[in-house]
Amino acid sequence: MAKIMAKISIAGEWLQPLATAGATLLALALLSSTALAQQPGASFPDGPGKNTVIDICGSCHDLNRLTAGYTPDGWHTVIRMMQNFGAPIRSEEIAEITDYLIRNFPERPRPPAVLIAGDTQVNIREWPVATEGSRPHDPLAAHDGSLWYSGQLANLLGRLDPATGEIREYKLNPQTGPHGLKEDRDGNIWFTGNFAGLIGRLDPKTGDVKEYRLPDAAARDPHTLVFDHDGFIWFTVQAGNKVGRLDPGTGEIKLVAPPTANARPYGIVVNAKNVVWFVEFGAPRIATIDSRTMEIREYLLPDPAARPRRLAIGPDDAIWYADFARGFLGRLDPATGAVKEWASPSGPKSQPYGIVFTRGAVWYSESAAKPNTIVRFDPATEKFQTWAIPGGGDIVRNLDVDRNGNPVMANSLVNKVGVVEIGRIGH
Ligand code: HEC
Repeated sequence: MAKIMAKISIAGEWLQPLATAGATLLALALLSSTALAQQPGASFPDGPGKNTVIDICGSCHDLNRLTAGYTPDGWHTVIRMMQNFGAPIRSEEIAEITDYLIRNFPERPRPPAVLIAGDTQVNIREWPVATEGSRPHDPLAAHDGSLWYSGQLANLLGRLDPATGEIREYKLNPQTGPHGLKEDRDGNIWFTGNFAGLIGRLDPKTGDVKEYRLPDAAARDPHTLVFDHDGFIWFTVQAGNKVGRLDPGTGEIKLVAPPTANARPYGIVVNAKNVVWFVEFGAPRIATIDSRTMEIREYLLPDPAARPRRLAIGPDDAIWYADFARGFLGRLDPATGAVKEWASPSGPKSQPYGIVFTRGAVWYSESAAKPNTIVRFDPATEKFQTWAIPGGGDIVRNLDVDRNGNPVMANSLVNKVGVVEIGRIGH
């Protein structure tokens, strides 16, 4: 039940096709008892390409995903991404379905980016990644100065040398869907195989990939991962509603569920005291998980509509969150549970998303603002400064921090990676 509800109600997220007959029956029962009691896509406008779209585009995810709408360039990229991921589109169908989608599902109105001047200087540098339609999802700044990204829909990890612009791609197994990225002390790159239900390790010296499958088939959607100070990997499992721990020494994986149903564990970070924090995208909650007992303690946010996706930790161990649903930046004091919030500059629909704390400030991106922004918030003065990401940014889903303290990003729909070089810091 929970699984089906999730598929219907959470737009903009991909869930695997329903597998069992029981689930299908339940889905049908649900569909016929609601306003959705019609064929998927029946309400789509008529025109050449409609039937092909309905035949092909609903097999891996909800057809309603298409109604989000894109610019013409965006639609070309989306088709490219779906082909990379194995959507069975014949070459003679491409032009017709792309035209159909461009005509009928244009980009929805988005809040204009609100640009706030200030004294801090940045230089935003970006590079197109090697394979079109890769959907660079997460960025990773490695210790050697390279910038890695997960090419989620092209099933590859990419390594960019920012000094030369040279990119090397490492192929993963088909349908892996790499998502979160982290580097270990030996320079191996660990990733969540989001679609294949695994945690993987790439050795960049050899290109060898080792896979650790999640021991529970219900643990779908392994999402974001982090190393604790003892070298264990902690990861969230969004759709499967779990948090996991992988011992890289033995390969053992343990999974636990949060107390809240459909909590959708999402961003995960470790603080200076080695405490693991994660955020629930399906509930207004932020939580810790005990590193020995794996006991989860949830902190309730004051607004029931809050749905943060990601977290950052300040030098004082304060937890900063980007509230995607309400367009707020928030700060949770872990000692008292007290919360303070600030409205994000581009407003309630700006969808704050990737967030880091670096060089004395919070940095995050507003993923619906047009163009996407880089936002700096100074906790001392409580002042915002914002910049437009050249080329639109769309969509910065996560940030990392490089060895110079600069935020790095991946721009999934425009197929780029970039760095926000921080120059002079003002007040
Ligand atoms: C083989 C499986 C598959 C098929 C078939 C497929 N898709 Fe997708 N689609 C995906 C995956 C995987 C994602 C990424 C999901 C996520 O957000 O994690 C995705 C995401 C999307 C998105 C959101 C893109 C974004 O960057 O957020 C759109 C729009 C979309 N698909 C449109 C289509 C259209 C149009 C078709 C038909 C031409 C189609 N899909 C067919 C697998 C598929």
